[in-house]
Amino acid sequence: MPNPLRLGVNVDHVATIRNARGGDHPDPVRAARVAKEAGADGITAHLREDRRHIRDDDMRRLKDEIALPLNFEMAATPEMVGIARALRPHAACLVPEKREERTTEGGLDVVGNKGVVGDAIAALAEAGIRVSLFIEADPRQLDAARELGAPVVELHTGTYCEHVGAARERELARIGAAARHGTAIGLEVHAGHGLSFDTVGPIAAIPEIAELNIGHFLVGEAVFLGLAAAIREMRRRMDNARR
Ligand code: PXP
Repeated sequence: MPNPLRLGVNVDHVATIRNARGGDHPDPVRAARVAKEAGADGITAHLREDRRHIRDDDMRRLKDEIALPLNFEMAATPEMVGIARALRPHAACLVPEKREERTTEGGLDVVGNKGVVGDAIAALAEAGIRVSLFIEADPRQLDAARELGAPVVELHTGTYCEHVGAARERELARIGAAARHGTAIGLEVHAGHGLSFDTVGPIAAIPEIAELNIGHFLVGEAVFLGLAAAIREMRRRMDNARR
């Protein structure tokens, strides 16, 4: 029996489309409901400092109205730590955040920011929130995550998805090695960013990875297939690869 692989559906970009017109359609909470029906194991949303997609009220409704674990992606700032402690989602994923970036670029530098990251982990853990750190597949970052007491890391798959050929294979090998190292030192290992129907298989096949978080591709593909069908197809590809 292979290790189970959970799918967290990120609904940020449903809010991006909503915000393009300033109304309340499409509603990311409705998308989360559809995701649950289609087999998602969790919902992920990133409350950015500039609130460019998900807003505070979306987070509250995702927590209150959706009967799935909520993964709150956030920067390790006092504002976000305060919001998360009040909301008490199932999990918080600490990500680096730059105002000018289009999406999360690169992983969190845990090695270089042990003070800030360690304080955020402690404050979130005290509120009963399971913390994960979004990092590059670098053993030094994994060791620092372990040292600071984070129970989970999420490996950044962006570089793997952007490259092709030998460069992609090298990145895949690095992610596989990091996943093995992470579980060997007692971390739960997740992965995500940029995954699509074409790129998910080799990542899903890494047996140490327990969860994938996928958003942008699913929302884009929903234009063509519908959201439920896109999620079901992703789930099918993940399960096939894991077998
Ligand atoms: N995991 C983390 C930590 C992220 O920041 C993101 C993007 O918000 C994702 C997963 C999902 O990435 P994508 O939207 O490219 O599937």
